[in-house]
Amino acid sequence: MLKQVHSKIKKLVKEHALLERMYINVAILCSNHGIKPPLSGNPDKIEKEWREQFPGSDDRDPCFYIEHDEQVDLLFMDILPFLDKEANILEIGCSAGRHLNYLFSKGYRRLAGIEIGSKAKEIMKQHFTDAYQCTEYIVGNAYEEVRRLPSSSYDLLFTRGVLINIAPKWNSIFKEMARVTRSYILTMETEGAYLAYPRDFEKMFRKAGCRQIIYKLYKRSGKKRILAPHYDRVDLFNSITVRLFVKNRLKGSADVL
Ligand SMILES: C[S@@+](CC[C@H](N)C(=O)[O-])C[C@H]1O[C@@H](n2cnc3c(N)ncnc32)[C@H](O)[C@@H]1O
Repeated sequence: MLKQVHSKIKKLVKEHALLERMYINVAILCSNHGIKPPLSGNPDKIEKEWREQFPGSDDRDPCFYIEHDEQVDLLFMDILPFLDKEANILEIGCSAGRHLNYLFSKGYRRLAGIEIGSKAKEIMKQHFTDAYQCTEYIVGNAYEEVRRLPSSSYDLLFTRGVLINIAPKWNSIFKEMARVTRSYILTMETEGAYLAYPRDFEKMFRKAGCRQIIYKLYKRSGKKRILAPHYDRVDLFNSITVRLFVKNRLKGSADVL
């Protein structure tokens, strides 16, 4: 019965532009404050699906994340010019390692990844063997694993399509990411995905001690991505946002920029 009501409300929200716009704000507000938005899925179930990574289960299958797509270039284009080849880089939710492999191809060797599903690790080992050799691959829950890392131990932390899958009860991950980075945090998330766990990422990282220095919204245009001025309703689940944050320095310490 409750399930039926839930899907009826979901349908209603999807069909009415004003309701949808209002609901997105509700979802962001809830998630920002550590509360599961009413229409989002069960966090334990979602986490289990990512952990089990059934082959052929569409986007839960790590094979889905082998291909180098245009978004890989969009993700890194603003940061790589500033990153020394000696930089320590950590990807959260690295799956089969296509981004780590890309960084490897650009000459980076100090790589690390955290991933909840162990199958993804095996796939990276097979597909991107050389990059894998240079990667410290940690299998585990991001919000637990990041907590174990020393402060300021990576020059760059980045995510793509991961933070919106981490339930609001684990919001401490934002503070932990800010603690662990020495300089930068880069995110590429489908921020309009209001049925997941969207947040106001600028606010979450600002509260954690970081400053947003780049914000770009890309929408789909045919096969390509183009910069968009604002979220388009028809494209909510296809538009992606790239944000680059820099960690605030204590007064008197050297700034990296
Ligand atoms: C949408 S996929 C993106 C994969 C990768 N970032 C890419 O684009 O190639 C999300 C990834 O985050 C991982 N993930 C989801 N929740 C996680 C968690 N709590 N801790 C660690 N990894 C998680 C999933 O297993 C999956 O590999």
